[in-house]
Amino acid sequence: MTMFMSSLQSAQAGPFQPAQIGVDRAEAIAPIRVNHLDVFYRDLHALEDVSVTVRPGRLTGIVGPNGAGKSTLMKAMLGLIPATNGKVNWGNGSLLAQRERLAYLPQRAQIDWRYPATAWDVVMMGRVRKSGWLRKFSPTSKRAAEAALKRVGMEDFAQRPIGQLSGGQQQRIFLARALAQEADVLFLDEPLTGVDKKTEAVIFEILRELASEGKVVLAVHHDLGPTIQNFDEVILLNRELIASGARDEVLQSEFMQRAYGGWAGTGAGAAA
Ligand SMILES: Nc1ncnc2c1ncn2[C@@H]1O[C@H](COP(=O)(O)OP(=O)(O)OP(=O)(O)O)[C@@H](O)[C@H]1O
Ligand SMILES: [Mg+2]
Repeated sequence: MTMFMSSLQSAQAGPFQPAQIGVDRAEAIAPIRVNHLDVFYRDLHALEDVSVTVRPGRLTGIVGPNGAGKSTLMKAMLGLIPATNGKVNWGNGSLLAQRERLAYLPQRAQIDWRYPATAWDVVMMGRVRKSGWLRKFSPTSKRAAEAALKRVGMEDFAQRPIGQLSGGQQQRIFLARALAQEADVLFLDEPLTGVDKKTEAVIFEILRELASEGKVVLAVHHDLGPTIQNFDEVILLNRELIASGARDEVLQSEFMQRAYGGWAGTGAGAAA
């Protein structure tokens, strides 16, 4: 635990100093550019003209009140719901055209936990694109799944049905699935829902590592308390983009006031 915390702090203290390979990969992975995105659910204009850049090598949090469109932004970027207008570009193409390089952890409420699969099966789903449904999983895929389970500290739970794990354990398994995918872009919708402080630290440690490897790491984050300090950049949303960029600049009281109105939530003081 102490190890986790100290490496977390040193990672936060300044620009990351990874081995050369990390620097190369940081250059290799392009930022994601969202341009003028509009999403409607029937008459509800859920996102209006949102333009934002998500950079590799950083931890980026999407913040805003309930119903602000945080999950909608993620889903629209992933093509899971249609956008009326706008584009999501990544490198020289659209993000959607490169879907096999993306991993997505949906918001907890949207996962069917009665799914009849073991923790191992869930993690192996992360390898389907690499192995194909009908082919047998390769030793490489099995090794990747084992490593992912270990990284989230769940190697002893591989054979448990996913529905019989605690909420925090389930979150770890879904994070392991995303890791097993070895994606260059990770989207996580409230990954800390239902997890304790220890798991929270483990998850941030892993996200920090992924960012240090030069990946694009984007997480919806609900909590405006101290955990927001883990993020380098923040996208503050309330149907429209209120502000985006360096965390402390975005979390200024003026922007927070605009996003949250009269009700500024529990941690707005800490953020101001
Ligand atoms: N499938 C849907 N059909 C119709 N309206 C929807 C649908 N999904 C979301 N909405 C509406 O769109 C708005 C944005 O929802 P979204 O789930 O993106 O918010 P959020 O910021 O993720 O909220 P939360 O913090 O509660 O997760 C809300 O008003 C919501 O009621
Ligand atoms: Mg949501």
